[in-house]
Amino acid sequence: MDHIVVTGATGRVGHLVVDELLALGCRVRAVGRTMEKLRPLAERGADARAGGPRAYEDRGFLASVFKGVSAAFVLTPVDVAAKDVNEIQYKVIDGLVSAIRDSNVKHVVLLSSWGAELETQVGGIIGCHRFEKLLDQVPGLNVVYLRPAWFMENFLWNIPLIKLAGINGLGFKPNVLFPTIATRDIAPIAAKYLATLDFQGRNVRYLNGARDYTMTEITRILGASIGRPHIKYVEFPDGVFRKGLLSAGLTPNAADFAIQSIEASTRVSSRRKLGPRRTLRRQRSKSSRRLRSLRHSTQRPNPDSVIASVDCSSARSSSLRVTAPSSGPSAFAWRRDQETQS
Ligand SMILES: NC(=O)c1ccc[n+]([C@@H]2O[C@H](COP(=O)([O-])OP(=O)(O)OC[C@H]3O[C@@H](n4cnc5c(N)ncnc54)[C@H](OP(=O)(O)O)[C@@H]3O)[C@@H](O)[C@H]2O)c1
Repeated sequence: MDHIVVTGATGRVGHLVVDELLALGCRVRAVGRTMEKLRPLAERGADARAGGPRAYEDRGFLASVFKGVSAAFVLTPVDVAAKDVNEIQYKVIDGLVSAIRDSNVKHVVLLSSWGAELETQVGGIIGCHRFEKLLDQVPGLNVVYLRPAWFMENFLWNIPLIKLAGINGLGFKPNVLFPTIATRDIAPIAAKYLATLDFQGRNVRYLNGARDYTMTEITRILGASIGRPHIKYVEFPDGVFRKGLLSAGLTPNAADFAIQSIEASTRVSSRRKLGPRRTLRRQRSKSSRRLRSLRHSTQRPNPDSVIASVDCSSARSSSLRVTAPSSGPSAFAWRRDQETQS
């Protein structure tokens, strides 16, 4: 049995993908920069490969990593300690795409991002856009671009603020519904593709949790989990938010990117109608019908129309739902589509 390569294996999604693949009985090659961080994965059965600080620029290292593998899970980090976030992203992307092109790997799952369809600069998401475009050019490659929403784990960064100031705050508006997903719901989806290799050509899959939340709701949930259910959410003006990010250790470039991403996602989320909330059961049956009709249709789904998606909740119960149409290609688009193939 060939190995499956997982890059960014020590990261939030990567280590979960490794664990899922090991649980499925796959042979996994976990790639990172230091053996120290990879050790727990090696102890759980992965073939750990550390390439040093410039692992993703080291052609020899990457060639050895991609030798004799059936599939690869790849991502580009958003290094908030970097002076120039995109510069590092591009080095990682270019290194990985070259290594994939030079290897025999024919199946790749990329952890991309919502908004990756945009050519305009939106924080670190432009890195995901570039990654997709370059993989598109590798002849004979079968790819899945996973485009998840905002990670729920990002809210953990606010714990120090909550503890210190007794409030929760970000740049989002308090009552706008916002899509999020837990990383543990992304990993099984990636692992299934990698283990079964049941995809051909170019596939895009948006991922979101079971339902959207407003920042007010998220704050209530966070507060309740630490025994402080009455914590208030405060929308920070950009200047205040930026100062907070800098004092939390982000570089100016990374702080600007965070603000850009929040502005863009708020623009999209604000345009979506709140409307009366449908019950999950109703959403499911409506979505199932829609999904069935898409499955039985010979037409490719139009990515700019109302489309169904396969969603998953943090409780790992996959659910289906139908959502509003996207705001169009020129905006930071949020769609929950079924897999689209080309
Ligand atoms: N955060 C979100 O809300 C969100 C939403 C949608 C999509 N995404 C996408 O998800 C991806 C990030 O996934 P993740 O959160 O799982 O990754 P992550 O945990 O931030 O990082 C993954 C790994 O990248 C390595 N790394 C960090 N800085 C690096 C650098 N300067 N050079 C080379 N390697 C570096 C680290 O591994 P080693 O130290 O072991 O090398 C780290 O464990 C991004 O492409 C992002 O756009 C994020």
